[in-house]
Amino acid sequence: PAAAAGRPPGLDFTPVQPNSLDAVVVPEGFQQQVVIRWGDPILPGAPEFDFDNQTPEAQERQFGYNNDFCALLPLDGNRRLMVNNHEYTSEEFLFRGYDPDNPTEQQVRVAWAAHGLSVVVLETGDGAPKVVLDRLNRRITLNTPFELRGPAAGSDLLKTSADPTGTRSFGTMNNCSGGVTPWGTILSGEENIHFYFAHADQVTDPVTQQRLARYGIKGGATERKWERFDSRWDLTQQVNEPNRFGWIIEVDPYDPESTPVKHTALGRFKHEGANIRVADDGRVVAYLGDDEKFEYVYRFVSDGRMKPGRSAHARRHNMSLLDSGTLYVAKFTGDSPGEIDGTGTLPADGEFDGVGEWIPLAHNDTSFVPGMTAEEVYVFTRLAADQVGATKMDRPEDVQPHPKTGRVYCALTNNSDRGAPGKAGADEANPRNSNKHGQVLELDDDPAGTRFAWRLLLVCGDPKDPATYFGGFDKSQVSPISCPDNVAFDRHGNLWITTDSSGALGANDGLYAVPLEGPERGHVMQFLSVPRGAEACGPVIEDGLVMVSAQHPGEVDGASADNPVSHWPDGGDSQPRPSVVAVWR
Ligand code: FEO
Ligand code: CA
Ligand code: CA
Ligand code: CA
Repeated sequence: PAAAAGRPPGLDFTPVQPNSLDAVVVPEGFQQQVVIRWGDPILPGAPEFDFDNQTPEAQERQFGYNNDFCALLPLDGNRRLMVNNHEYTSEEFLFRGYDPDNPTEQQVRVAWAAHGLSVVVLETGDGAPKVVLDRLNRRITLNTPFELRGPAAGSDLLKTSADPTGTRSFGTMNNCSGGVTPWGTILSGEENIHFYFAHADQVTDPVTQQRLARYGIKGGATERKWERFDSRWDLTQQVNEPNRFGWIIEVDPYDPESTPVKHTALGRFKHEGANIRVADDGRVVAYLGDDEKFEYVYRFVSDGRMKPGRSAHARRHNMSLLDSGTLYVAKFTGDSPGEIDGTGTLPADGEFDGVGEWIPLAHNDTSFVPGMTAEEVYVFTRLAADQVGATKMDRPEDVQPHPKTGRVYCALTNNSDRGAPGKAGADEANPRNSNKHGQVLELDDDPAGTRFAWRLLLVCGDPKDPATYFGGFDKSQVSPISCPDNVAFDRHGNLWITTDSSGALGANDGLYAVPLEGPERGHVMQFLSVPRGAEACGPVIEDGLVMVSAQHPGEVDGASADNPVSHWPDGGDSQPRPSVVAVWR
């Protein structure tokens, strides 16, 4: 359909204005409704949510906490399958009177059950989709058995007393973003896994010390004190347990009995997520970001070729594709490096752009990194990437190929330490020192080759700030945007972006759309805002239906269950609840 009123196709709405309301705000002519909230029953026998009487048994059967990634898959008739990540718990918001020095075992076990993923059948029709208590519904938590697969499976580095084979791990956590594979499974990234392992200061082996430090695992007791209730969180008891987290996992949501997989061939770091593109020859390419300041962008190319379709047979074959292939890390070279002064001023050629190279790290049992075995490259991938001269980026979040053009879009969310003493300074791909607002990178990548071209699509922030760039579009017409995190595409080819800015521009986070082609390229328009203190994530963009996660509503400094600053979505004096929201016209 043609664009109405001069708007680009698919973007026929009046942008919402930046605001600080304790509500989801959508454009005029659209409606929104919560689909599911933390604690809502999804499995048979689950009790109704009761904030003041939480149990691990109830939480195991209810929607988990802090939903992040959201996917919507086809099922049958007007039924769809929704899959959500539950990234992390903030105990002071889960429990009234929470004592961080003395968590109870009950509280800790509730937290383990609140992590992981949910699979929920939805009935769609007019208005918001409705939750169905179906036999396909599933909770995956920190207690669910996983199969470790790929070249590092069975490695001594992955063995613990609970799993002497190094091939079975227990649970998943910090699942941030993810992707839907062409064969109908879900990929999900285990991200900030470093907060959970105690007593790194008592580890005496210097090699192990260095590896733990490189992954940010340090200090004595952990913030959440889980080590008091299960020795796997205590490095003096199980030094390899951290090596069993920090992977890309794959879940077959159509088979509730299936054992989810951790794919060691995709490397171990603070995975934001993974997104797949299929090369012309049928090999699959996964794009990966390591979300921390000065970390890297990665790519995996499979050895095997995809079987088309979503049959059980095709899914089983295709789930093995991510177990064998080549893992690469990205090096970016600017074409105007002498002119990058760290202020965000455009270089003389009018664009932040250049070329790049994928540097191979390992292929199955073969390491390409001097002094490291292949197993070490897969388990300590950051140390491998350090050695080969990869480019330190401003917190790589989603890295996702465009379904039509094949161009790859990468959200670089921010990096307040860029240019700080002793840290890397600005370069053409990360052009601002003390980068508060992030940028969006566009890559022209050939899956069959190892070279790419790149340019920045957006240098985010308040468009009145001269150190911003909106694809060359007129900045007086765009919405302010800060800290891009998740990306998605609509059927017209527009890019959609959710933000996680902690109020960096003085307003709530939201969901934004931006055309990538033609005269409107760079015209960022805000589609919705999420409630106070929340991060917007998820997003699912379909014709007639948008779904977004409102993660951690009310999570602002000084707030807690004893002092809530958000009462969304239930209103009154209720506690805030992370939820999925549907929006339709
Ligand atoms: Fe959990 Fe990288 O955002
Ligand atoms: Ca340039
Ligand atoms: Ca994220
Ligand atoms: Ca983020």
